[in-house]
Amino acid sequence: MDCWQTETRSAEETRALGRYLGQAVAGATVIFLSGDLGAGKTCLTQGLALGLDVPEDEPVVSPSYTLMNHYHGRFELYHFDLYRLGHPDDLIDLGFDEYLCGDGVTVVEWADRFGQLDKAYAEGLEVEICHRSEKSRTVVFRAESAAARNLLATLARTWKERE
Ligand SMILES: Nc1ncnc2c1ncn2[C@@H]1O[C@H](COP(=O)(O)OP(=O)(O)O)[C@@H](O)[C@H]1O
Ligand SMILES: [Mg+2]
Repeated sequence: MDCWQTETRSAEETRALGRYLGQAVAGATVIFLSGDLGAGKTCLTQGLALGLDVPEDEPVVSPSYTLMNHYHGRFELYHFDLYRLGHPDDLIDLGFDEYLCGDGVTVVEWADRFGQLDKAYAEGLEVEICHRSEKSRTVVFRAESAAARNLLATLARTWKERE
């Protein structure tokens, strides 16, 4: 398991981190996001969409009510938010499995809502965002599969080199 973490000090910085992550994506990927309400999961996903070249006239908004929003970039982006999901079985109705095994980039907010969803469904990149203060967040990345570790290595390198 590879682990890397960084700190962001504004929503813009978290969006930038997401953009670097999106730019590092080289193939089908699943990203599991966890963290409290207001931690910055949607914010990171907005940056990720930019990094995947999703046109800016397709603004990334929280899919809380729709459970999933779909965007078109270098890869298809499927943005799930499980906050309002009633029961894990409802994921079957959403065709969740197929998105996880597909060719696109699948992002799942509240991936931890039903326990270790990630382990049950796929090996993806896990991202945990922790509130530090009003503007500061610790963002922790964990990668187990070879693909996720490569993605994380690229992100860590390019993020460090950006200055
Ligand atoms: N460092 C930061 N990273 C991300 N969001 C931040 C940060 N500092 C302040 N914020 C604010 O926190 C909120 C995060 O909201 P959002 O991304 O919707 O959270 P979540 O999807 O995790 O519920 C936004 O209002 C954003 O402006
Ligand atoms: Mg959100």
